[in-house]
Amino acid sequence: MHGRSFRGIFPGALLLLLLTMPLLLSCRQESIPLIEEKCGTCHSASIVYETRRSEAGWRQIMHGMKVRGLVISEEEEQRVFDILLTDFVLEQ
Ligand code: HEC
Repeated sequence: MHGRSFRGIFPGALLLLLLTMPLLLSCRQESIPLIEEKCGTCHSASIVYETRRSEAGWRQIMHGMKVRGLVISEEEEQRVFDILLTDFVLEQ
């Protein structure tokens, strides 16, 4: 009795899971290792992913973060800007 209803439900549940998998994966929280490492310590890195700024705006924010205590090398800063100005830029 129990085994029978389990076998009845299982393939359907599995199929549903397979069908929704791409959707679940595409909705996953964005996560960029360098941003997590450099910008995810004082606050959640998601603050970065949710922000859109012009180039000047991001340079201003970077300056502000340094004033607040961000430690970052020239090379890392360049890589962070590459990411910000590619994926998180405010088009005007
Ligand atoms: C030393 C701590 C620290 C680090 C590291 C840091 N932040 Fe911040 N950040 C802050 C604080 C504190 C705030 C709170 C809001 C404020 O003071 O303006 C903030 C706020 C922000 C905001 C929202 C403020 C606004 O004006 O929209 C953004 C965007 C931001 N940070 C981006 C970054 C990015 C990008 C990095 C990595 C390059 C980073 N943060 C790393 C301390 C930090």
